[in-house]
Amino acid sequence: MKNILIKNIGVLQTPIGKSSLKGSGQAQNAKLNNAAVLIENGKIAAIYRDGELPEKLSSDCKVIDAQNCLVTPGLVDCHTHLVFGGWRHNEIPLKLRGATYLDILKAGGGILDTVRHTREMSEDELFEKSKGFIKEMLLNGVTTVESKSGYGLNLNDELKQLRVNKRLNEETPMDVVSTFLGAHAIPPEYKGKPDEYINYLCDVVLPEVKKQNLAEFCDVFCEDSVFDVEQSRKMLLSAQKLGFKSKIHADEIEAIGGAVLAGELKAISAEHLIATDGQGIDSMAKGGVTAALLPATSFYLNKTYAPARQMIEKGIPVAIASDFNPGSCPSLNLQFAINLGYLKYRMLPEEILSAVTLNAACAINRGDSIGSIEVGKQADLVLWDAPNFEMICYRFGSNQVKTVIKKGEIIA
Ligand code: NIG
Ligand code: FE
Repeated sequence: MKNILIKNIGVLQTPIGKSSLKGSGQAQNAKLNNAAVLIENGKIAAIYRDGELPEKLSSDCKVIDAQNCLVTPGLVDCHTHLVFGGWRHNEIPLKLRGATYLDILKAGGGILDTVRHTREMSEDELFEKSKGFIKEMLLNGVTTVESKSGYGLNLNDELKQLRVNKRLNEETPMDVVSTFLGAHAIPPEYKGKPDEYINYLCDVVLPEVKKQNLAEFCDVFCEDSVFDVEQSRKMLLSAQKLGFKSKIHADEIEAIGGAVLAGELKAISAEHLIATDGQGIDSMAKGGVTAALLPATSFYLNKTYAPARQMIEKGIPVAIASDFNPGSCPSLNLQFAINLGYLKYRMLPEEILSAVTLNAACAINRGDSIGSIEVGKQADLVLWDAPNFEMICYRFGSNQVKTVIKKGEIIA
């Protein structure tokens, strides 16, 4: 493995540490001027500032001139559903006639439409399709991504999706972190029998996912007319017993108590939270839950935006992710979510950078190894075609990435 020196960095901006940043700490970023980074064996070996450089370089060291640009940690997209069959553009006419996301799901479409297409595809076909998304994400500066199952909704098809996650992790430069989301919708085989479906997931599917070591986290879609709080609790507690950490799709459309449950179960993260109320926020703060906010979903569903500022004020670490999926956010562009973090959440650029790097890394239990540019961490970095992070928050619709370095390799 070659060593790399990145020199002439205009500004190196990064959060610091291994734990998520909260409250006023969320806005704390180190900003080093005229910096350089030395990478050895895929890890960050040294950081220089104010024009300093290493005295001597190994003969195989490649030197990159950053030409005074901004350098940040690689972006971490901590919430996606990137392995799926088909698309859902066919929902456009229904939506234009007034149908909502949940109306379409209740009528057997929505997620269930994607389930039909995902079940029809082979593992290889799904792998090839999602590999294309991974490539695009890398080009957009994302170096680690979380990927959920949830479009199989039976043993074989859930395992198929999770195996695709595993292969994406092994066969592409991206680090892919896998989450089991069998409780994403009630499949046609269990129509009207959500409790029986949850029992099936807990008794049959989860133990197999564990045995084959195909996921680290268990998630559940806790939502009106999907899974209620008690069903979600049962799912997540069974998973915790097997060693899965909890995530929860909470209060995306209705505040039915998902965020409160997240706090009670000390989930690693609660996601969406568009409709979360004060009770949910208090419970999350008490339980040490990270809020994974998904502003591009609010945008695509024409909804309001999660109360990010209130969460920061209450000491909840905020992460921002894309939620890439065919139904509620057909965009994998995390830079667009960054723009919305500024425009709609009114977060500071520094708070946003923490949200898409260190806090997102902590939301997938990776704060030890990624999410910041510090000696000893994995060398995942982005060189931007911009002088500062304000520019990344401000310009939208263009890819502002210049170069992506993943584990010390230049990959884009
Ligand atoms: O995070 N809300 C549940 N899951 C996804 C949407 C999945 C879909 O519509 O296909 C979400 O928004
Ligand atoms: Fe989601």
